[in-house]
Amino acid sequence: MARGLFITGTDTGCGKTEITLGLMHWLQCQGLTVMGMKPVASGAVRTPEGLRNDDAERIQSQCSKEVPYEWVNPFAYESPIAPHLAAESAERPINLQTIVEYYKRLSDMADWVLVEGVGGWCVPLDGKSTVADLVRLLDLPVILVVGMRLGCINHALLTEAHIQQSGTKQLGWVANQVDPAMAALEGNVKTISDLIDVPCLCRVPFLSKSDPVRVGECFRNALGLL
Ligand SMILES: Nc1ncnc2c1ncn2[C@@H]1O[C@H](COP(=O)(O)OP(=O)(O)OP(=O)(O)O)[C@@H](O)[C@H]1O
Ligand SMILES: [Mg+2]
Repeated sequence: MARGLFITGTDTGCGKTEITLGLMHWLQCQGLTVMGMKPVASGAVRTPEGLRNDDAERIQSQCSKEVPYEWVNPFAYESPIAPHLAAESAERPINLQTIVEYYKRLSDMADWVLVEGVGGWCVPLDGKSTVADLVRLLDLPVILVVGMRLGCINHALLTEAHIQQSGTKQLGWVANQVDPAMAALEGNVKTISDLIDVPCLCRVPFLSKSDPVRVGECFRNALGLL
């Protein structure tokens, strides 16, 4: 049975995929077998093999072992809209038990499994379940990726409070600089650090292109906290 991590974030586009790939790479550098999942993805292209989502394909490529696409991303939807609406319009509901089953398969073949969330913490997956329910079912600790941009203090604190309320273990947060010119970046990082109850695992600078090696190195002092 592998150790697992769930990567959530303050919002869509906050850097969950970049952080997931970087952390997978860093753990692999420690000699560990690491698999990843993006169980639900809305925004996918039709291919002869079926729907393919970019995040899921990148995570699949970063996996230590080859596995079928469906194991990494059992629920892909063409429309880039809220997942429960995409599922409704595709008439293919998201089944949480199916996700758990694929997670277990990956877990049986690895030291670590990293699971990227969809959107933020409260995103509905169907009429009654949200991302938070999926994480409870998977029984995984959470890393919160904060996309450092205007408004992130509020988003970070609200998300942290909600994760805490759900009883899920939070390992820490990541300050991910998505905005190359964010005003008062240092003050924002310090404010979140002062007000949030979990440690800052690392800071990831603005990167001109996707770079799992550099992102992974940002975690070098955080492995003890995972
Ligand atoms: N540290 C960074 N420096 C520069 N660009 C970044 C950084 N982190 C993320 N980005 C860019 O921001 C965009 C969103 O990042 P990413 O796809 O990782 O977010 P996400 O939270 O996974 O989004 P989604 O909700 O679509 O899954 C991408 O274009 C990515 O390359
Ligand atoms: Mg993503």
